[in-house]
Amino acid sequence: ANGPDQNIVRGNGGELHQIAGGETPTLTTALGTPVSDDQNTLRIGERGPSLIEDFHFREKIFHFDHERIPERVVHARGYGAHGYFETYESLAKHTRADIFQRAGEKTPAFVRFSTVAGNKGSFDLARDVRGFAVKLYTKEGNWDLVGNNIPVFFIQDAIKFPDLIHAAKQEPDRAFPQAQTAHDNFWDFISLMPESMHMVMWIMSDRAIPRSFRFMQGFGVHTFRLVNAKDESTFVKFIWKPKLGMQSVLWNEAVKINGADPDFHRRDLWDAIQSGNFPEWELTVQLFDQAFADSFDFDILDATKIIPEEIIEPMPVGRLVLDRMPDNFFAETEQVAFMTQNVPPGIDFSNDPLLQGRNFSYLDTQLKRLGSPNFTHIPINAPKCPFAHFQQDGHMAMRNPVGRANYEPNSWGLGPREDPQRGFRSFADAEAGQKVRLRADSFADHYSQARQFFNSQTPPEQRHIAMALTFELSKVQASAIRERMVSHLLNIDEALATTVADKLGIREMPQPVEAAVPVRDDLPPSPALSIIEN
Ligand code: HEM
Repeated sequence: ANGPDQNIVRGNGGELHQIAGGETPTLTTALGTPVSDDQNTLRIGERGPSLIEDFHFREKIFHFDHERIPERVVHARGYGAHGYFETYESLAKHTRADIFQRAGEKTPAFVRFSTVAGNKGSFDLARDVRGFAVKLYTKEGNWDLVGNNIPVFFIQDAIKFPDLIHAAKQEPDRAFPQAQTAHDNFWDFISLMPESMHMVMWIMSDRAIPRSFRFMQGFGVHTFRLVNAKDESTFVKFIWKPKLGMQSVLWNEAVKINGADPDFHRRDLWDAIQSGNFPEWELTVQLFDQAFADSFDFDILDATKIIPEEIIEPMPVGRLVLDRMPDNFFAETEQVAFMTQNVPPGIDFSNDPLLQGRNFSYLDTQLKRLGSPNFTHIPINAPKCPFAHFQQDGHMAMRNPVGRANYEPNSWGLGPREDPQRGFRSFADAEAGQKVRLRADSFADHYSQARQFFNSQTPPEQRHIAMALTFELSKVQASAIRERMVSHLLNIDEALATTVADKLGIREMPQPVEAAVPVRDDLPPSPALSIIEN
């Protein structure tokens, strides 16, 4: 409506040309050459063949042909927003990370929410885990807290990740289902992976169909370390808590919403932020020391376990506010590259074998997806603090070192140097042992926390879990897989197993799967795990 209608002229073939002038800039090629006609290719005669001499046409088509980049191998469908993190109080006692030193400090942030299994064009309300990836542009480099809305994971060791994802995504021969866990390959793998049972309870629960991104918790999942100026370490788990509280939809609502508006979660975040209704989360931390780790019922390095909030109360340390949508989806939300290994001094890793594997995977996958080691030059990925190094060249190098010195040490007094005080130092944990492929006995209990989670749910939530399992397993064609799943459920809750078996028409109840260690009855329910308040 506000276009330059007055500058329209009609061409010979009746086509319309909108002509530059006044406020309307001149269209140019990517290299700045002004374009006279963007409606017709250069050709010999009005009805003759086109000429490859037409550099404007060739450039335009060439660029269009190369618009797509690979979608993320997981978490392909996502939606991001800008905002800031505000520190409540100094955490200097526990960490030297600059972001936690001063009360009131504001740190720019970018967050990308996602589903995991679905392709980029899939629908928002799939029954799935949601990614909750936060990039914090701290004054000591980017800190990526690449979490999910579920505090545990399917597998304990990163070596199983490709198998998990292959089984979860579309089956390779038929290329469906594109965004459903309800299929044989997924449940086949899961039923052969007892360690996944705790997470299975979570994704069969209401947590896996959130009402919107604004009503979800986020979890760093792994145990990390905080390290203070005296090089002392405290273990930490990170939890984001939504100010709006948690809400989910019912499965039949999800199915309708997916049909009516597959972009429901995107639209919700867009509408909320555009109307000034900025969503907010509180960052809380569960802090504990080595003595707690040694005495806790489970291994703190095992990503299939939580530390119940009733045992260690999460302490609020700051808030995250999302207040600005990206100007361009591709430039920011698609090109943002999260990597678990992006941590500032004062935050460090634990030996969790899933985290250690992730620290390798993310750098590798970003190179494949974004195509050049210089993906850190893209504005959404570049740090917002001063940085200086000797990395150079490669495809699309935008920031080569300036001057003669591109190495150190050098005699020219040029370029940056190490800083033993400010620099990142890994926590000097004592490690010794044989080189083995063995999993610790302390990782062997796969059912007790699954049972604890189920017992923590309110009766309606428990019914939803039973209905979800029944629906999902009813889509599984192989009866052996359905029965194997019921054998696992028997170790979690007998009534649940019986309900699901009945609904699936399994006449003869299978034996429970033999658990590696006795399943515990003495873990009290953790009401904090429930969405519907009792
Ligand atoms: C992507 C979380 C385990 C490999 C993501 C994303 C999230 C996430 C949130 C999306 C980031 C974005 O929005 O751009 C998690 C969590 C895990 C986990 C919480 C377990 C606790 C793993 C493991 C591996 C892995 C074990 C591999 C060993 C990847 C890859 C991507 C990805 C390759 C795609 C990254 C990209 O192309 O940008 N993960 N993940 N993840 N994750 Fe994980």
